[in-house]
Amino acid sequence: MSMTADELAKRQAIIDACRRMNALGINQGTSGNISVRHADGLLVTPTSVPYEAMMPDQIVFMAMDGAHAPHQKPSSEWRFHRDILKSRADVDAVVHAHPTYCTILAVMGMDIPPVHYMIAAAGGDSIRCAPYATFGTAELSEHAVRALEGRLACLLDHHGMIAIGRTLDKAMWLAVEVETLARQYHGCLQIGKPPLLPSDEIENVRQRMAGYGLSER
Ligand code: 13P
Repeated sequence: MSMTADELAKRQAIIDACRRMNALGINQGTSGNISVRHADGLLVTPTSVPYEAMMPDQIVFMAMDGAHAPHQKPSSEWRFHRDILKSRADVDAVVHAHPTYCTILAVMGMDIPPVHYMIAAAGGDSIRCAPYATFGTAELSEHAVRALEGRLACLLDHHGMIAIGRTLDKAMWLAVEVETLARQYHGCLQIGKPPLLPSDEIENVRQRMAGYGLSER
């Protein structure tokens, strides 16, 4: 397969991020998947390939209509990767994983409320939990796109989480931050009903972060 240096670098960055998900403990086995906008489509991880064995030419280039080389098998979650990149001009990377604390809250169908000011990094005063639908379906993709409206992260009921960003580094940073928030919220719930920050304070923090450079992550 011949490809430009830019495309090869993007493919390698996707593999490096997959391996980082495992090192960070936010992924379980091969259940995570990653995509990055490329040319008129996207580069997306292949289905069921262990990250240690993943090679750049196994990353699938997919056109926005879902077409790809017939010998390649994209992630079973290619629909929401494609639909998010199609509907969100502000975003160039999508990270999906099943981090433990995000998934605990998602099993309970819970949104993450503003328990900590860092929730503003995900774009607003909550991280919504999208309703359940079977993995890989158009229905799950529709739920995910809706839950991400005005946001950069969401949970998926009985499934996991999605973090998105202008770059893969930003989406990865946010994925780790959302798992931290989920863990903090879970911990608070062990003690009682956590007091929440008001929405106008989260908006205030969001604007400060823009000045501070956190929104640039
Ligand atoms: P892959 O198809 O990308 O291996 O992942 C499965 C999965 O995460 C379903 O949510």
